[in-house]
Amino acid sequence: MGVLKRLLRILFERAEALFELGFGPHHNPLAWLGALGWYFFWIVAGTGIYLYIFFDTGITDAYASVEYITVDQWYLAGVARSLHRYASDALVIVVVLHMAREFSLDRLRGKRFFAWVTGVPALFFVYVCGISGYWLVWDRLAQYIAIATTEFFDVLPFFGEPIANNFLDSTTLSGRFFTLMVFIHIFAPLFMLVLMWVHIQRHAGAKVNPPRPLAIGTAATLIVLSFVHPATSQGPADLDVVPAEVGFDWFYLVIYPLLDIVPGGQLWLLLIGAAAILLLLPWLPPAKQTAAAVVSLDNCNGCARCFDDCPFSAITMVPRSDGKGYATEALVNVDNCMRCGVCVGSCPTATPFRRATAIVPGIELPEQPIGALREKTLAAAKSFVKGRRILVYACEHCGSETLQDDGTVVVTMPCTGMLPPSFIDFALSRNLADGIAIAGCADSDCYFRLGGDWTDDRLNGRRDPYLRRRVDRERVRLWRTRSAATRARDRARDEFRAALQELPKNRKPGRGTDD
Ligand code: HEM
Ligand code: SF4
Ligand code: SF4
Repeated sequence: MGVLKRLLRILFERAEALFELGFGPHHNPLAWLGALGWYFFWIVAGTGIYLYIFFDTGITDAYASVEYITVDQWYLAGVARSLHRYASDALVIVVVLHMAREFSLDRLRGKRFFAWVTGVPALFFVYVCGISGYWLVWDRLAQYIAIATTEFFDVLPFFGEPIANNFLDSTTLSGRFFTLMVFIHIFAPLFMLVLMWVHIQRHAGAKVNPPRPLAIGTAATLIVLSFVHPATSQGPADLDVVPAEVGFDWFYLVIYPLLDIVPGGQLWLLLIGAAAILLLLPWLPPAKQTAAAVVSLDNCNGCARCFDDCPFSAITMVPRSDGKGYATEALVNVDNCMRCGVCVGSCPTATPFRRATAIVPGIELPEQPIGALREKTLAAAKSFVKGRRILVYACEHCGSETLQDDGTVVVTMPCTGMLPPSFIDFALSRNLADGIAIAGCADSDCYFRLGGDWTDDRLNGRRDPYLRRRVDRERVRLWRTRSAATRARDRARDEFRAALQELPKNRKPGRGTDD
């Protein structure tokens, strides 16, 4: 499993680097796949509502009404039909890629299982919507789908009378199944919407809207495609004639050719097995669980910064329980906590300047206490061998350990978002290093979603807790690179060392004002 993940990761990193050339780092479509899924869903829903105005839900008139949409009103309803189809195809593409990318980033194991196991049924509903949609046109492709699908379902021992009998010839055809399909095609998207909503419930500020340029560019591409290559039907269904050849939509109907090769029973086992494996993936193998973040009421002043910054909605602010003079206190929901430490980086009490032997902030990860980070920082200062001293605070997921050399010491943590900016001030003002670099995942790849962005904002004065103004910015770097970009990181380190060489030596040990 690990090999597959790594292989996929390399492929995605290459593709992302390529896309970045055209779209830049902030509008890379591969970084917005989930949001594009939402976007395409809304396009499909909007165009679907418009098409429904003209669609005749009776089996005898359905085809004619779709022809009216396509031919007579080609300029509006026809374009809506094409958009409906192409946005549905795009939805399948982005959702499958989104699933593969989240898998490659390993953002599914341990407590993160929730988005994955709610995503699998959402994917199922994407297919239910698409297949039932093709059925409604009631052309030759719909006829093929109707017969193949009902024969496939007849393999199951649930139906007394074979349901494929409905489509034996034109005399056996009843509107019953057709009405069922119309019903499914309307209600499946509603179920899907509920699932999509549940899917992101553990994501604070989930990215459900792609950036405007990407949204406009994508919609424009779909509109152009709709004019250049409008969606059409494949001639009316006729149950007295077996459709010889039908044009295929490989995005939705990909399993249909298998029906001709694999016996129905075996195909059911294959599909059920594949779904079961997909659902079990978060536990293959089980993730090592560390302890969730813990609040220390003695040090929590109820400022709610951890609540604002937690990427997984794992913190709530509740009425004070210890009688102290603050209105609220932070409360961690252990089931939602992903052990990222981002809350520690946001807590104003997490400062290394305090003299107390045991530094206990308002919130911290019991297995990676902030006191230990201070000790590692002090130890790092003693382990430089030569040259300008670069202390790198790196996240565990971006592969930055390889930066270590005679003049560089790497201290790792779950996410760069765990680093309170006061540590940078501490290390420089105590002359523990000549320069500080914070190395994390690329903009689009942050393993803990928002940690990298919050770090960027804190260093650049956009988010509390800020990096203090007295810190010499020339001695601080933020590197956000893809894990495979070893050479880019090495180059950044060498450039930083050269830049530090140009600066006067770091000043003598000073005293932090909080001391
Ligand atoms: C209807 C289809 C889907 C839509 C619209 C959708 C949308 C989203 C969105 C908006 C996010 C949040 C991204 C962020 O802000 O970080 C997300 C996260 C995620 N999705 Fe989906 N998704 C869909 C289907 C799936 C499927 C089929 C899977 C896999 C089986 C999946 C797995 C995940 C995972 C693992 C995460 C991230 C979890 C984490 O960061 O802890 N999604 N999805
Ligand atoms: S950031 Fe720290 S002090 Fe503020 S509410 Fe959270 S735990 Fe309490
Ligand atoms: S460790 Fe991460 S997920 Fe857990 S409470 Fe803190 S910020 Fe939220």
